[in-house]
Formats: sequence, structure tokens, C-alpha cells
Amino acid sequence: MRMYDIIMKKRNGGKLSSEEIQFFIQGYTRGEIPDYQVSALMMAVYFQGMDQEETLALTLAMAQSGDMLDLSGIRGVKVDKHSTGGVGDKTSLALAPMVAACGVKIAKMSGRGLGHTGGTIDKLESFAGFSTGISRTQFMTQVEEIGISIMGQTADLAPADKKLYALRDVTATVDNMSLIASSIMSKKLAAGADAIVLDVKTGSGAFMKTLEDALALAREMVRIGNGAGRHTVAVVSDMDQPLGRAVGNALEVKEAIAALRGEGPKDFMELCMTLGSQMLVAGGRARDGQQARDMLEEAVRSGAALEKLAEFIRAQGGDPGAVYDPSLLPRASHVEPLLARGEGYVREIRCDEIGVCSLLLGGGRETKDSEIDLAVGLVLEAKVGDYVKEGQPLAYLHYNDPAKAAAARERFYRAYTLGGEKPQSPALIHRILDRE
Ligand code: URA
Repeated sequence: MRMYDIIMKKRNGGKLSSEEIQFFIQGYTRGEIPDYQVSALMMAVYFQGMDQEETLALTLAMAQSGDMLDLSGIRGVKVDKHSTGGVGDKTSLALAPMVAACGVKIAKMSGRGLGHTGGTIDKLESFAGFSTGISRTQFMTQVEEIGISIMGQTADLAPADKKLYALRDVTATVDNMSLIASSIMSKKLAAGADAIVLDVKTGSGAFMKTLEDALALAREMVRIGNGAGRHTVAVVSDMDQPLGRAVGNALEVKEAIAALRGEGPKDFMELCMTLGSQMLVAGGRARDGQQARDMLEEAVRSGAALEKLAEFIRAQGGDPGAVYDPSLLPRASHVEPLLARGEGYVREIRCDEIGVCSLLLGGGRETKDSEIDLAVGLVLEAKVGDYVKEGQPLAYLHYNDPAKAAAARERFYRAYTLGGEKPQSPALIHRILDRE
């Protein structure tokens, strides 16, 4: 088999066989096929597309390019959750302990944030001493014993995707449905869970700006997951404005703790309940969505979900004190209100601009080795549909460095659009797709 022939076949609109896909993924992972040939193939895929069979074969080849975690030694159904990313998306922090408190095992691998989106690992590191750099043995033992563990993504998890994603990033071949779906799902399959609940975001702060594209991506990933023998469900949810009110690592942890007390913002609570219900049903703990919701609400009401967070933080070396007293989380030296410069209904809040504000304050990474300031960020006071008067706070800026705050302040005002007409309330949950 020759890479040249595979490139030409795809360039001419042909369908690649599983053997051809495995050949190029294995050869590329081993360093035997050069970047320039794989770049050419990615561009051919970008223009010619891949059908469902090719996409599944690509996903499996990438998943099998490194270690496949075997979680079968842990009793019960292990459920994973993945979000395609957004601004203020702290869902895993609240959802994982809620679901674990209801008896579904959470074995999750997470990444760090890059650019204007945050990562679960960074947020968790707001708890002093907490580490996701745990061994595989600890990960497995912890899931078995307390029902929850989150570890950092290891280098041998889908290494083909790591190389391919870096190459796509610099060759304008990221935004192809088959390539995105196979990239995400290869990592999920390699991470070993029996069931996968996907939160596919749509809107200005998401990868998929339109509902149509988000639905297509969700369908593709559900098909791949179920085709690979994992019970996979996707919730398509809104990211046209930040989720909840807090944006920034420790601020988001604080909001997640509030949610575990039943005091989180309405949209955030609703998303946790929707995703959590799917996880309890997929994990075999609830027979339907209503029973699952009742169980989750009880876990919150009784304090079991909050206790589970504390148990999880302690198990991974962190100080759980902040779970009960969030003032112990990293705090910025300055908090400043950002006042409305006019009057009217909030018609739009551009997620990407809010994400950039947090980045400018030092809360995100420009490159993968940047240090981040866990304390900084924003807490939004006004969301889409709220009426504000001139001089009323739209948000609070939490900062440590006045020069960075000046840049973020100006950027902030680009995010908000006020107008005289009340906009329609945006729907939070657009669609739920399961294997049927
Ligand atoms: N996230 C991934 O992991 N891969 C993509 O291709 C896009 C988003």
C-alpha cells in the first residue's frame, strides 16, 4: 500500500477502505508517513468528505493508535461526559459529583483550557493541592471505591489524534464534520467508558455556530459511539451567551459549588439536570428521565452531591475546605463593577468576547505552557433578556493586574448589545439525540 495512492483516491472522490485508513494512521503515528502527505490527505478529505463507514474506521484507527483504557475491572456501568466547549462551561465540576452521588461511576479524562475556552483540570486546580496527575492504578481504585475520578489526558491516549489535530490546526483543515467527530470520539473510546453523554454546544461561543451544524456533528458522534458499541447520547445545548454567570477558573468552581447546594443560576442547574438525567439512565440507575431528575434533586437537597465533591477533592490530594467555605478559593485583589453605558434590554452577549476578557485578565492560556491566574474572571449580572438602566452593573471584573484589567474592560463592552426591544428568551436545550 502507498500513501500516494490513498491521497489520490480521496482527491478523486473515492471511498477509503478500513485497511487504507489504518495504514495511514499507523504509519503517521510511527513517524513513517511525513506531515506533507498527511496534510494533502486532510485537504482532500476536507473537500471530498468521508462517509459514515470511513468516519467510523478513522475513529477506531485513532482510538487504537495508543493505549485503550480497560475499565472492565471496575464494577458497574462507567459513564463519561464530554462537552464540545464553551465560555463559562463549568458543568463537569457540578455534574460529576451529582451523578456519582446517585451511584453512577464517573471515570473521566479531561484536558486543560486553551485560548478563550477553559478546561476542567485548570478549574479543579483551584483547590489547593488537588492533582489530576494521578496513576492509572489510583484512577481505577478511586472510581471503584468512591465512584468518581478525573485524571489528566495521558500522552498515550489516541496519539494519532494528537498529531493529526496539531497538523489540522495549521493547515486549515479543522472544520470538517468527519474530522471533528472522529477526533473527539477517538479520545472518548480510548478512555474506556461504557456510556458517553455528549454536550454539543451551538451558538456564538461554540465550535458549531449554527444549530444545523451542531445537530449534524451530534448525529455523527452518536452514530460513531453506538457503532463502536458504547451507549452514546448527545444533548445539543445553547452557547449563544455564557453558561451561568461566572467565567474564570476559581469563580466557576464557586458557581459549581453553589449548584451543588441547589443555588446555581437557572440555566446552569437546568443543563446539569438534563445531562445528569441522561447519565443516570445510560448508567442503568434510573428507568427514565423523570426518575433520574428526582434522584439528582434529592442528591442536591440532601447534601450528598456536595459531600461527593469533597470526597473526590480529598482523594486526589486537595484541600476540601473550600467546598464548605468557597472564600478559601483563590481570590482576586480587585473587584470592579462594569456599568451599563446605556439603557435597554440585553439583546446579545458575545461569548467569544467574554472569553477573551477572561484570557486578557490572565485566566486563560495563550500557549499551552502559559501560567494562568486562577482567581481572575468575570461574574455577569445581566444576561440576555434582562433590562438594565444606565449605570447599573452589567458584570463584575475580578482582577489582580490593573494593566490587564484596562484591556479587558474595553473588550467587555464589545460583548454586550443593548436595545429597546425585548429579545426572545433563548432556548437552552435544543435537542436530545440517542441511538434511535
Ligand atoms: N475538539 C477536538 O478534540 N477535536 C477537534 O477536531 C475539534 C474539537
